[in-house]
Amino acid sequence: MTLFETITRLRAVRYFTKRRLSDETLTRILQAGRWTGSAKNVEPWHFIVIRDKDTLNKLSKCGRYASHISGADTAIVIVNERSHFASFDIGRASQNMMLAAWGEGVGSCIASLHYESQARTLLDVPENKDIPIEISFGYPLPNQPLTIEGRPREEVLANISRRPLKDLVHWEKW
Ligand SMILES: Cc1cc2nc3c(=O)[nH]c(=O)nc-3n(C[C@H](O)[C@H](O)[C@H](O)COP(=O)(O)O)c2cc1C
Repeated sequence: MTLFETITRLRAVRYFTKRRLSDETLTRILQAGRWTGSAKNVEPWHFIVIRDKDTLNKLSKCGRYASHISGADTAIVIVNERSHFASFDIGRASQNMMLAAWGEGVGSCIASLHYESQARTLLDVPENKDIPIEISFGYPLPNQPLTIEGRPREEVLANISRRPLKDLVHWEKW
């Protein structure tokens, strides 16, 4: 895939095979996160890598739409410092990791950790840091079910495709 194809073909993968990510692949994913640029280069992130099945299962109970974590090979929980642009910065780091993974055929999906204090206790995260999201990684199961938590995607998501450019690009002025 070209870089453009890697970007435009990246879709959420919520169902995974049991194939393991190699240490080399996982390291490249983490390096892609590490090399992300951030506001004033403050790098307001830590990455907790989880591969233990019991912890993955427990983490999958920490969000309302987080069951995909239990089937993932690896979860990366993004821990962020409370800096002004932290959410923008961790979004960039997350996308870099997801694209680096996808470039190697590894699928991924974000989970919002709605029950953050439960996740904090599970992972021993200090009180002065936030853990808004997790990213599940694994090789995609063929024929992905088109459901989220057992419900059709259309019932859960605002849109299952993307708005056309004409609806979102403004030239010169609004
Ligand atoms: C901040 C954020 C939180 C998300 N939380 C969840 C989640 O809790 N569970 C889930 O299955 N997907 C979650 N997603 C994935 C979105 O549903 C997905 O990016 C969107 O539907 C587009 O998917 P597509 O690329 O397959 O079209 C989240 C994405 C973002 C950016």
